[in-house]
Order: sequence, then C-alpha cells, then structure tokens
Amino acid sequence: MISSECVPFFKTGGLADVVGALSLSFAQQKQNVQVILPDYNAVSKNYKKVCSFNIPMLGCIEPIIVKSVEVNNVIFYFICHSVFTDRLGIYGDTSVEPYADNFYRYILFSKAALELCKVQKYTPDIIHAHDWPTGFIPYLMKHSGMFFANTRCVFTIHNLAYQGIFSKLNFLYLNIKPDVRLLKNDSINMLYAGLVSSDYISTVSPTYAEQIKTSDFDCGLGEILNKRSSHLIGIVNGVDLNVWNPSKDKYLTEHYSKNDLTGKIKLKKHLQKTFNLPIALDIPIFAMIGRLAAQKGFDIFLECAEYLLNNYRLQFVIIGTGDKFLVDRLLELDSKFDNISVAMEFSDEKAHLVEAGSDFFLMPSRYEPCGLNQMYSQIYGTIPVVHKTGGLSDTVIDISDDPKNGTGIVFNDLEPNSIVSSVGKACELYKSDKMKNVIKNAMSTDFSWNKSAHLYMNLYESLLKGKYRSGGLKK
Ligand code: GLC
Repeated sequence: MISSECVPFFKTGGLADVVGALSLSFAQQKQNVQVILPDYNAVSKNYKKVCSFNIPMLGCIEPIIVKSVEVNNVIFYFICHSVFTDRLGIYGDTSVEPYADNFYRYILFSKAALELCKVQKYTPDIIHAHDWPTGFIPYLMKHSGMFFANTRCVFTIHNLAYQGIFSKLNFLYLNIKPDVRLLKNDSINMLYAGLVSSDYISTVSPTYAEQIKTSDFDCGLGEILNKRSSHLIGIVNGVDLNVWNPSKDKYLTEHYSKNDLTGKIKLKKHLQKTFNLPIALDIPIFAMIGRLAAQKGFDIFLECAEYLLNNYRLQFVIIGTGDKFLVDRLLELDSKFDNISVAMEFSDEKAHLVEAGSDFFLMPSRYEPCGLNQMYSQIYGTIPVVHKTGGLSDTVIDISDDPKNGTGIVFNDLEPNSIVSSVGKACELYKSDKMKNVIKNAMSTDFSWNKSAHLYMNLYESLLKGKYRSGGLKK
C-alpha cells in the first residue's frame, strides 16, 4: 500500500481509515502487507531505522531516511524528509491552502517508496496506490527498469474531485522525459496520471464507479474513465470493527449491543450534557459529522436548518472542520437556538460519542464516493438519513422501499425540501414502534471488511494471472 495518510498515524479523511483497515484485514488473512507513508511531524522519531538513500530531483539530491514499525502484523514504513517532517499539516497548514510544493513532496515520496522496494530487494506482487498524491506511482514503476516488471499496480480513487493539478514544468522533477500522455488540459494532473497508467482502477463503491463515468460526476475526467471502464471496479469500503463497535468502543463510557440498548440511552444523556443541550430522552437527536466542504451538502442543510429548529421537536449535534463560511453560519445557529450544538473541531472521542448517543445521522452529500459515517452510525443503531448518491445508495436500505429490511431514510433530490420531509419522516419513525426494527436491521448489517477485502484479493489475483497486463500505457 502506498498512501499519503493512514490510521493510526495520519488522518485528514476517510482515506486514512480505509488504507489502515483494509491493510489490517489483509494481514488477518495472513497476507504480507506493507504500508509506505510519508512521515509528517516526525511520528517515527523512535522507530527503527531501516535504510537511507538519495533521490535525484532536478539537479538536486534529496537524502531520505526510512523508519519502520510493525503494528498487528502490518509493517509500516515512513519516508522521512524535511518536506514532510517540518510542516504543521499534511497537504497544507490549513485545510484550505495547500502547500505550493505538493508536487515536489509527493513525487519525492513516490520515488522514495519505489526506491525502498529496490533497496530492500523486495518485489511486491501488487502495489496498491491511493488517490492523487500517489498518481505517478504506476508510471514511475514502468520507468524503474525491470524491477517492477512482474508487479501490478491498482490505483484507487477515494474522491475524484481532488486531482493534484500543477504546471507541466514540474515534469522536470521526475528526471524522465516529459510524457504528454500524462497531461490533462496541458497541465500535470496527478490523479489523471494514475488513471492513465495503472493496471487497474478501483473506486470505493459500485454506484460511484458508474456515476464518475457521467458528466454530472466526472470532474472533467469522464473520457479516460469511460475509455478504461473495463478496467474500473467499484468495491465498497468496510469498517474496522475493532475500532467502531458499540460493545467495546474504547472512547465510550458505556457499551451496548442490538439486544440491549441501555448503554445507548445513557450515552444519549451524556451527549446532551457534553454538548450543552437540554437533557430530554424523548427528543430525537440528529447528528452530522464531516468535512465542512461543498461535497457534504452543509450549505443545503443550512437553507432549511432554521425551519427545522423552529418547527420540529428535535436536537442537532454537529462536529467538523473546514470552510470558514460554513463554520460561521453554523456557529450563528448555535448561538441563536438552544436545540443545536456545534463543535467546530474534530476529535475521535467526540465522533464516537456523537455516533453512539444520537438517534439519527444526516448526510446530505452532493456526491459521496463511499462515505463511512453512514456505516458507523448503523453499527451504533443511529439511523442514517441520506441523499441517494454514491456509496450512500449502496449501504443504506430505505425503509419505504423495503419496510421489512430497511436500515435508514434515503431521499432522491438534494433540496432543502427533501431534507425537511426526510427529517419529518424520521421524527415520525422515532415516535412509532417501527423504530426498534429499523435499529435492529441497521445493527445487524455486516459492514466488516471481509467481503470487500475478498473482492480486492480476487482483483489482485486476476491481475497476477496475467489478466489486464500493462495498464493503460505501453512503455
Ligand atoms: C473520501 C470520500 C469518502 C470515502 C473515503 C474513503 O473521503 O469522500 O466518500 O468514504 O474517501 O474511501
């Protein structure tokens, strides 16, 4: 696995959860899994040094040190260099402004990750690279002589909207003759490079895999995705049930299961106390957690938030960080109404308490490659109310479509009106005796990695059997 972030070390979003949990799942199946990460803020200070080497970058020689640690049979390697260690953030000091030298940083990282394999004389069967920071990995593999001739590269899109676009002059840092096949709109587009040159492309849900081939969702990359559609698969993410499990969650003071929800009720009280909401067990709590970005639909929610807070007997708890405009609007609501509480910070402890103590989880995402919180909430008996898009369609069963097996409320159009009517529906459900069955269905769903890890394994195996050889580019 080559990734720019991974739990338990570095995380800005779901990518980190998925790389961490998928690797762990492979290790549990006795596969040899190694994860290569940049070392932001010197996490690896006390880890064992593995090797050091130099990486040429346009007339400059960059010294790299590699450290390593083993956790639960997964070996993590950390690429150490000051462009990673001496910064406050991962992609930028804030989530809004990226570092100007991100191309340099992630090319240095990618070259070092491949060099590490060579220095260790370790030829992996599969290199699985994730998102735009690793988009050049498959191309660099093909330019590494014969070393990776038998290695296949899977490239996973976790979010098509983040592409890593840079001036084509940066090609010089690669120390390879510029290859126009990697340019998109006359610029370097790191995600596009991954789509063009990997042996196989995956994304994180079957519905998103279909959607990104259409102009509404393709973020300008529909042509290559359609061209390579026989080499594109959607595999829905799983959940690490050691971390997200109401019967043993290390962040919670109470535990519970689908057969005994007493702990959940106590946690609801605890949540109301922690978030300064009136303590009332008969009022449904709606939660929202997420990056405050256009993707997550907070702006649409804000259009109807006052109406909901004025007209329904409910409470809202919201946590997240991001877009200042959205933060300010949410804080305004917090000061105006006593049935909403927002914490514009992210902490694992708070996220787990919110998932467990709430009754409903609202996700009005514009698009959602997979989405994890709707799965976490079902595991915790917190009923998702979601827009029918991407992974949300694949992981929530609407109670109107399937009253017997329904696990949540799914709405078709992303409009303030649909949010209002779905929240209204949820409030009715909350009062009815059907609620128990929906909670039971949600909590009985298997969100473990077993099935999806198996699908990845099948994909890896067919690649190794020679199917889908050589990716989208010939050398
Ligand atoms: C990105 C996507 C999210 C997905 C996650 C992990 O954060 O926005 O939908 O669940 O990656 O794949």
